[in-house]
Amino acid sequence: MSTETKNDAGVFGLADSTLVKFQGVIGGRWRDAADGAVIEVHNPATREFLGTVPEMGLDETKEAIAAAREAFKTWSKRTAYQRAAAVRRMYELMREHKEDLARLITLENGKTIAEASGEIAYSASFMEWYAAEAVRTYGIHIPAAAPTSRNVVIKQPVGVVSIFTPWNFPSAMLTRKLGAALAAGCTTIIKPPPETPFSALALAEIAERAGIPPGVVNMVTTQKNVLPVGREMCESPVVKKVTFTGSTPVAKLLANMAASTLKKISLEAGGNAPFIVFDDANMDEAVDAAIACKFRSSGQTCVCANRIYVHSSVYAEFAARLSQRVAAFKVGNGLDPETTHGPLIHERAIQKVRAHVEDAIARGGQLLVGGEIEEGTNFFPPTVIADVPADALMHREETFGPLAALMKFETEDEVVGLANDSATGLAGYIFSRDVGRVWRVAERLEVGMVGTNTGLISQPCIPFGGVKESGFGREGGPHGIDEYMNEKVIVFGGLGTA
Ligand code: SIN
Repeated sequence: MSTETKNDAGVFGLADSTLVKFQGVIGGRWRDAADGAVIEVHNPATREFLGTVPEMGLDETKEAIAAAREAFKTWSKRTAYQRAAAVRRMYELMREHKEDLARLITLENGKTIAEASGEIAYSASFMEWYAAEAVRTYGIHIPAAAPTSRNVVIKQPVGVVSIFTPWNFPSAMLTRKLGAALAAGCTTIIKPPPETPFSALALAEIAERAGIPPGVVNMVTTQKNVLPVGREMCESPVVKKVTFTGSTPVAKLLANMAASTLKKISLEAGGNAPFIVFDDANMDEAVDAAIACKFRSSGQTCVCANRIYVHSSVYAEFAARLSQRVAAFKVGNGLDPETTHGPLIHERAIQKVRAHVEDAIARGGQLLVGGEIEEGTNFFPPTVIADVPADALMHREETFGPLAALMKFETEDEVVGLANDSATGLAGYIFSRDVGRVWRVAERLEVGMVGTNTGLISQPCIPFGGVKESGFGREGGPHGIDEYMNEKVIVFGGLGTA
């Protein structure tokens, strides 16, 4: 069947249906794949067909890279004020269309409309942040060793950037990279995820409406051809930077490919966040935070609590209160305002959470809530399991789903040891009223980000990123834009002496 007969923007129910794009964009032209191949996108809540996007390949990727190279010649020469204005305009347009953009996220990702609206606010805030950062890419003057010399350091955009984004935050994980790249003066080739391409394509449309010139934002949609496309995006000598958010195995693959030309890279890979509740924690705050942190987007975030350690003296109370709250969740279609938690993205995600639940129970974990899955759907019941032993699968792997696994601990040293016993280190959380302990444990945790007495840390103004196998590079914060710039030193000699 041709895409003309299958695709219907009306299915999305947006106020502005022209935000729904069924094509990729290369050099300012909305395009199908050269061979007409398509990827089908489905609503995870209903498994219904939403529409198709092109299954692009190596040729389109090469064209996109060439378009980005051409556009870099002029985009990089715009003043920082001009780039700031364009990025700011994207922010304004995102705010203007926030209901439509949120609806797109719910339809293709499944998260509730409240969560999707929160994501659009978060996503737009990256454009706002980077619009302001564009004009603050200061250089420095460094006193020279020789009296007849002067040294200055300037910052310049790295060039063409390859951007790989995940499905769990279809909008925010893109603006976090794109905002920085555009503000710095870079041009881009974006590979959005095949599960949620429509949110990304809507942002490409918004970039166009904001007056960002053709070729600055190129989008290549692909699924089956991901290997040749990804390889070209990493290995092409024209590309000067690769940025990725997703799983640790894929991060390693891309890092290897990008190594062939020694590109600058930033990788935000998987997490396995410890969430530690000490005996003096405020129990209301700790339970609220565990709900927010663990079950945000139905547990499909890299920073969500994966291992919940609770001091033995408050363990029973915490487990009971958490279970009572989780049992009251309403799982369903994210468009229904009654729904508190949406589906998982696909069958593979369901199977992974199921494997972690079954493994934890087989090793002696006590099922307190949930566990039973509704076959033939993407809904996984929010689940709480107590006494999950340290050798359980979910201690070593990120669950990426609505499973809260509880473990008891006795001492600070013991829990820090357990928390750090992980190959990855993205986020960690501490609940205690003892400022000395909070400070000590925050310093000892092997992670890139610590939330103390809060389960929600994400903001554009902080350096987001991890250590160990969670990757490297930071997004947002005072230095986030530097990931897209090179420092150049200029030494002025032969000044003579006065
Ligand atoms: C992620 O899951 O990768 C990002 C979550 C966030 O920015 O809060």
